[in-house]
Amino acid sequence: MDTQKKRASFSGRIGFVLAAAGSAVGLGNIWRFPYLAAKYGGGIFLLVYFALVVTFGFSLMVSEISLGRKTGRSVISAYSMLSKNWGFLGVISALIPLVILSYYCILGGWVAKYVGAFVSGSSVAASKDGYFGAFISASVEPLIWGVLYIAATFAIVLLGVEKGIERAGKFLMPLLVVLLAAVTVYALTLPGSGAGIKYYLTPDLSRFSVKTILAALGQMFYSMSLAMGIMVTYGSYMKKTDDIAVAVKQIEWFDTGIAFLAGLLIVPAVFTFSGGDSTLAAGPSLMFVTMPKVFASMGVAGTVIGAMFFILVLFAALTSSISLMETVVSVIRDKFHMSRPKACFITLGLILALGTPCALGFGLWSGLSVGGMSILDLFDFVSNSVAMPIVALLMCVFIGYVIKPESVISEVKISGKFSRERMYRIFIKYVAPLFVAAILVSSVLDGLGILDL
Ligand code: PHE
Repeated sequence: MDTQKKRASFSGRIGFVLAAAGSAVGLGNIWRFPYLAAKYGGGIFLLVYFALVVTFGFSLMVSEISLGRKTGRSVISAYSMLSKNWGFLGVISALIPLVILSYYCILGGWVAKYVGAFVSGSSVAASKDGYFGAFISASVEPLIWGVLYIAATFAIVLLGVEKGIERAGKFLMPLLVVLLAAVTVYALTLPGSGAGIKYYLTPDLSRFSVKTILAALGQMFYSMSLAMGIMVTYGSYMKKTDDIAVAVKQIEWFDTGIAFLAGLLIVPAVFTFSGGDSTLAAGPSLMFVTMPKVFASMGVAGTVIGAMFFILVLFAALTSSISLMETVVSVIRDKFHMSRPKACFITLGLILALGTPCALGFGLWSGLSVGGMSILDLFDFVSNSVAMPIVALLMCVFIGYVIKPESVISEVKISGKFSRERMYRIFIKYVAPLFVAAILVSSVLDGLGILDL
């Protein structure tokens, strides 16, 4: 019955762009991009990254959004609708967001904990050695913050496409930009940031290698929320009158702009306050160990700046987990013809079941590990390093050789010009599959510790 109702939609292009950019802009932009840029040659990494975004990233994102809009279905049924034998690709794609969501919510809970610490004035305590380790290994605290975070995500998705997701994007994304710009400007005016800015922007050819390209590729994938059905889902809520090519260009700029700004904040700040690139760690320890120290060394202002920083990170994460949850919800609704609230509750149950071992994996359940990886790391590895490249590769084959690029191009042209059409054809058929295969091999080798990326 439900499926016979008109499918929900975003109210227009801006609503769509902000929601999709909300998905793209996330923890990856803030805790991974600056670190990779600093590690892989500063300006040269930036150049490679930008080049990949406007070619490869553009092609994949246009493809996914078009598949969604063309079929009006979530990822689980979009593929089988276009070609009977390809339903399996929808099924694999649908599983990825569920796996990512269950650990992303735990990371979101960590961010929420730091917002709490900074807002309540315990920023100095949060900058002390051992604070982060003690928190993530505590028996129930990480779970409580994770549950709070999941509850926020759940509440927004429950409200639906226009009233929940679109509104969240329209409200949180502009605020995020303002906060990030303010924090960055403040940090850049502090004495001593010049060396860090130079390190971040100057192309250093001696640090350029094939790894630079692979790292940029992998990052682009994750950052643009590709190959996991999200853009297919959001595309299915897009109006036929909204211009796909223009929307994708805007999302690209948004996502890349925020990543660039985050680098401009973090690299010089770490340089100035923690002394050089050796302290520029990756991932969680950059966010939760190094940055609090940076804020502590800013004196009194550090508490305010730090609070603003963690709030903006929370917004970035929230709009990403909303997109992950919506993808799972839309899959369940399409598959089982369920109402939104019912599908939301089922998804919530799944996240809690899968998220709990991630939350407790550093404390109570730290004995639980697979192949030397914690559950959280394992979920991250399986989804990002294995499943996503496989889905992307199959998607290129599907579009390039089964339904043909023409079917995507015609969908794009319903609502506007397709200025990068020639490039699109070449990329989707030849270049993208090669690139994706390279990522797959390198990231599996990297994850297994054979290649050090
Ligand atoms: N794109 C998000 C980021 O940069 C991460 C994300 C990945 C979001 C997968 C949704 C799905 O952090």
